[in-house]
Amino acid sequence: MTLTPTPEDKFCFGLWTVGWNAQDQFGKATRPNLDPIEEVRKLKEIGAWGFTFHDNDLFPFGDRAAREEMIGKLKDAIAETGLVCEMVTTNTFSEPIFKDGAFTSNDRGVRRYGLRKVIENIDLAAELGAKTFVMWGGREGSEYDCAKDLYAAHERYAEGIDTVAGYIKSKGYDMRIALEPKPNEPRGNIFLPTIGHALAFIEKLENGDIVGLNPETGHEQMATLNYTHGLAQALWADKLFHIDLNGQHGPMYDQDLVFGHGDLISAFFTVDLLENGFPSRPGAYTGARHFDYKPSRTEHEEGQWDSAKANMDMYLMLKERALAFRADPEVQEALAYSGVDELAKPTIAEGESLEDVLADRSAYEEFDAEKAGERNYGFVRLQQLAMQHLLGFKA
Ligand code: GCO
Ligand code: MN
Ligand code: MN
Repeated sequence: MTLTPTPEDKFCFGLWTVGWNAQDQFGKATRPNLDPIEEVRKLKEIGAWGFTFHDNDLFPFGDRAAREEMIGKLKDAIAETGLVCEMVTTNTFSEPIFKDGAFTSNDRGVRRYGLRKVIENIDLAAELGAKTFVMWGGREGSEYDCAKDLYAAHERYAEGIDTVAGYIKSKGYDMRIALEPKPNEPRGNIFLPTIGHALAFIEKLENGDIVGLNPETGHEQMATLNYTHGLAQALWADKLFHIDLNGQHGPMYDQDLVFGHGDLISAFFTVDLLENGFPSRPGAYTGARHFDYKPSRTEHEEGQWDSAKANMDMYLMLKERALAFRADPEVQEALAYSGVDELAKPTIAEGESLEDVLADRSAYEEFDAEKAGERNYGFVRLQQLAMQHLLGFKA
C-alpha cells in the first residue's frame, strides 16, 4: 500500500535530485540524462506539488541562448502542469572558476563574478514566483587553514549575503534567503558548517531579517548532530525558511538517501515536529516539504522514479504514525508522567523577581534535593510507546 500525496502536502523535489544521472567521482553515469522539462511533467504525474532548481540544472553554464530558450520552456511547463516553482538556487560549485568558492574566494574577480551570477538568478527566481532562494556554499571553505584569512572569509561571506539580501529588498521582491549549512564535502571544511554556526552568522548581518536557514537532514547527521534539535532551534529563532529532507547513516560521506531510509527514528521525530509542532506550541511547519536526495546509482529509470515516490510515501507513513502517537491517550498520560509539559512553565513565575526566588527557602534551603534526584522520568517508556507507534504495533 502506498499513500497518495496531495498538493496540501507541499512535496517538492530539486531537478538535480531525481534527475541525477549517477555520475560520481568513481564512475560514469549509469542512467541517461533527463530533460528538465520532462522531469517537471513527471513530478506532476507522481503527485509532487512543486519543484526547485539550480540555474545550471536548466541550462549549461555560460550559454545565454540556452538560458533564454529553457526559461521559456520552463514557464510553459509551469503553466501546463500547475507545479509551483517554490525555490531557486545558483550553482556556485561545479565550474572550475568556483574551485575556491564564490563569495569567499581569495580572488576578488571571482567574488564579483559569483555575486553577479547569484543576482541574475534572484531576478529569475522572482520572475518564476519563487519565494525562497537557497544558498548552499559547498565550495566556501578550505582544505588547509593557512590558505585563508579566516576572519576576512567571514567578512566577505557576510558582505556577499548582505548584498544579495539588500538587492532583494531594493527590488521589493517577496523572497527570503535560506542558507544551507554543511560540515564538509566538497571542501575539506565548509564555512557555516552547522545550523548553529549559520544562526550565529545571520545575527551579524545588516539584512538578516530576510535571511534564514535551509537545514538538510544528512548534513547535520554527518556532523553527528541531531537534525530535529537543529530544526527546533531554527524554529525557535524564527529562521526555519526551508528544509532539505533525505536519509543518512551517521558520520560518513553525504549519502542523500531517500528520506527515512537512513536514521528512521530520527526521521519519525522530524516529521512529528514538522506536523505536530512542539507540545507547548502546537502547529505544523507550513513551508515546503522539500527532498534533496539522490536515486541510488544502482537504479535505472524505473528505480529513479520509485525512489522519488518513496520519499513522499515515507513522509506520509511517518506523518500518520506521528499523528497517532500524539493522539494516543496512553502517550498523553506518559508525557504528563514524564513532565514534558512542565518545561513550558517559566522557572521564575510572572511577577516574581530573582530576589523573590533568592528569598524562597522552599526553592533551595528546604528543597528536598535527594527526593528530586529519585524521580523516575519515564522517558524510556515514552520512547518505547513512540517505537510501538512507529512500527505499527499501536493504533
Ligand atoms: C549538497 C547540497 C546541495 C544543495 C543544493 C541547493 O550536499 O550537494 O545539499 O544539494 O542543497 O545545491 O542549493
Ligand atoms: Mn547534501
Ligand atoms: Mn541540500
